[in-house]
Amino acid sequence: MPSVRVAILGASGWMGKVHTMAFQTFPHFLGAGDGTAQIAALVQKTPADAADLAARAPGARVLTDWRDAVNDPEIDLIDICLPDNLHYPVAKAALLAGKHVYCEKPLADTAAEAKELADIARAKGLITRVGHGFPRNPVHDLAKEIISSGEIGELRLFKGCQHVDMFGDPSAPFMWRADGKLAPTGIVGDTGTHVFSFMEFLVGRVKSLVADNMIVTPRRPVLSGSALGSSAEALTGNEEWADVTNPDATHMMCRFENGASGIVDFSRVATGRKFRQAYEIYGTKGSLVYDYDEMNRLRLYSNDDRAGRRGFRAIDVGPDHPTFRAFLPLPNLSLGYNETKIIEAAEVIRSITRGTPMWPTFDTGHHICQIVDACMESARRGSWVDIAPAG
Ligand SMILES: NC(=O)c1ccc[n+]([C@@H]2O[C@H](COP(=O)([O-])OP(=O)(O)OC[C@H]3O[C@@H](n4cnc5c(N)ncnc54)[C@H](O)[C@@H]3O)[C@@H](O)[C@H]2O)c1
Repeated sequence: MPSVRVAILGASGWMGKVHTMAFQTFPHFLGAGDGTAQIAALVQKTPADAADLAARAPGARVLTDWRDAVNDPEIDLIDICLPDNLHYPVAKAALLAGKHVYCEKPLADTAAEAKELADIARAKGLITRVGHGFPRNPVHDLAKEIISSGEIGELRLFKGCQHVDMFGDPSAPFMWRADGKLAPTGIVGDTGTHVFSFMEFLVGRVKSLVADNMIVTPRRPVLSGSALGSSAEALTGNEEWADVTNPDATHMMCRFENGASGIVDFSRVATGRKFRQAYEIYGTKGSLVYDYDEMNRLRLYSNDDRAGRRGFRAIDVGPDHPTFRAFLPLPNLSLGYNETKIIEAAEVIRSITRGTPMWPTFDTGHHICQIVDACMESARRGSWVDIAPAG
């Protein structure tokens, strides 16, 4: 059985831990028939927890420089869980070294960089994957199946949002996510790309858009050691304050190539919204509604239902769906965030061992970066921006 040798870059961070767990865990649920992952290296710049890291993946080397993993002939797959600004240079170096690459979102800081990565991968015949894991929840496979079968007719409108309040408190500490040097597109690349991944998966390519970006809280206190979810309670009043140099929130309207239109907003300063992700898709014969608060449930409205009995009906995805059944034998026990990343890890390994790319590849990541670019440009210009078609 093939085993893919993986290096996890940014291993001590949130995604580094999730990806490590996902590669180690997927055979328990999704089987090892398409191969397994061997965690060969954990790369962490300043591993305060080197012993802990080593214990998480016995046999893995703990490295401090990502270049050592990229240049190691004993590694097949480079898995990038680093801050956004490192995605492009590290992915490019890895592809040029002949490695398959799995990269967290956003794929790159600009569409030009993303295209270059996709082109290199295609030319070298390497497998690529972007970490847009939310649509890999089986509930969205069902949504896609309903749309593709024509059950809700021609798509007319996509409404989507993702709201979090990690920076809702104006004195929540500064971190790389608010730094335009480390995360040049801010909330657009961070949270917007999740909504864009649903748009790409369920509706299709975007051809033009208009967006408004906002910095809502221009300065934040610098607290050493703070990370996502850190609170401002430790403030002493003697902190330095740093400028927030990328957008906190965005409102966007778009047109899709297939004639549908879209209204989307996303924010990291939505006070009280710990994590809200939702979409509504309206077609000529019916509609679909999804809300992460009920993350295994889809609501379907159909004009085909008998008059007098029409209304949104809740469909809970359960063991009828093979991917759900692989994890849980009973409905309503619910798959969660980590399971979607386990599904993603299994698909990454399957696509490498079978030599068959699976959604979302770097080509998908490129289109999502085109949407990000267009949001940034539209907000700068204050006007609609066209997106170049594929090819
Ligand atoms: N798909 C998702 O649902 C999802 C969720 C969260 C984050 N992300 C993405 O994952 C990436 C990482 O986010 P996170 O929340 O895990 O961040 P994090 O800050 O928790 O982790 C990043 C890690 O990288 C390490 N690091 C930084 N520079 C390094 C270098 N040069 N070499 C080695 N290690 C280095 C940091 O020390 C940290 O441990 C981001 O691009 C983010 O957008 C995706």
